[in-house]
Amino acid sequence: MSESLILSGKEVSASVYDDLSDRIDALLDNDIIPGLAVVLVGEDSASQVYVRSKTRTFNKLKLHTKTYELPSNVTEEKLLSLISELNDDPIFHGILVQLPLPKHISSDKVINSILPQKDVDGFHPENAGLLSIGRPRFIPCTPKGIMRILQHYQIDLRRKNVVVLGRSNIVGRPISILTSLKTEGANGTTTICHSGTPDIESYTKRADVIIVALGVPGFLTSDMVKDNAVVIDVGINRVDDDSDKGYKLVGDVEWEGVCRKASAITPVPGGVGPMTIAMLVENTIEAAENLQ
Ligand code: GUN
Repeated sequence: MSESLILSGKEVSASVYDDLSDRIDALLDNDIIPGLAVVLVGEDSASQVYVRSKTRTFNKLKLHTKTYELPSNVTEEKLLSLISELNDDPIFHGILVQLPLPKHISSDKVINSILPQKDVDGFHPENAGLLSIGRPRFIPCTPKGIMRILQHYQIDLRRKNVVVLGRSNIVGRPISILTSLKTEGANGTTTICHSGTPDIESYTKRADVIIVALGVPGFLTSDMVKDNAVVIDVGINRVDDDSDKGYKLVGDVEWEGVCRKASAITPVPGGVGPMTIAMLVENTIEAAENLQ
């Protein structure tokens, strides 16, 4: 079997930043510095890493960002009052509350409190609703990044069976909508599988494109995949090893086996991850353009 094409999110995100530079310059010429407020609650180490890589990118592009770190025992009321301040602060065009939140805080309430025009994550019910009727405002960053990878490598979903594993509001649900919308490059026939689906492999074996967003290391194995399928791995899982860090990052796909069968596949790291950040930058620029 021939080698599969590696779908490099690093490469695609570099071209996204290139395309964005004129839009950033136009905003700066108007004295508008696109600004993102990031809210991080608690000490979850994976969330800390994600937030740091998001803010590092914003700093590198000379965009404005500020992280509000709150202790894990912060009250819901206090968090809601911070978001209310950020909604009113014209310095910030986008607000991102890193998920998951501690159990005593209602994520729904928090997401609902973000001004939809500043909801660059696209999680607010108004933005989720607009996407579901095919009139998106802010598209959640990871699904948007996946569509951009497919577009970059000219992988058209028309007349293709797309199988999405996972139904989260962050990835599974919105990517199932995007892949099935009647739009250029999409128009796929999408099936969502989840923890309640019996015999998942009967679906994956028929899929032309498989998008795995379960958070289960190595879930998709080669026997579940047909020859020449396109595989998009959304998982970023920490697995203990003997390295200095004490862990390595692996996806939801069993890489060694599946990459021998797939025609194209995203690596972990370097696949979907960099695209999530690039789309966050793009959404924040869009928010700044809309609010100017
Ligand atoms: N947690 C995992 N992915 C995301 C994301 O895209 N945005 C936010 N806010 N939290 C997350």
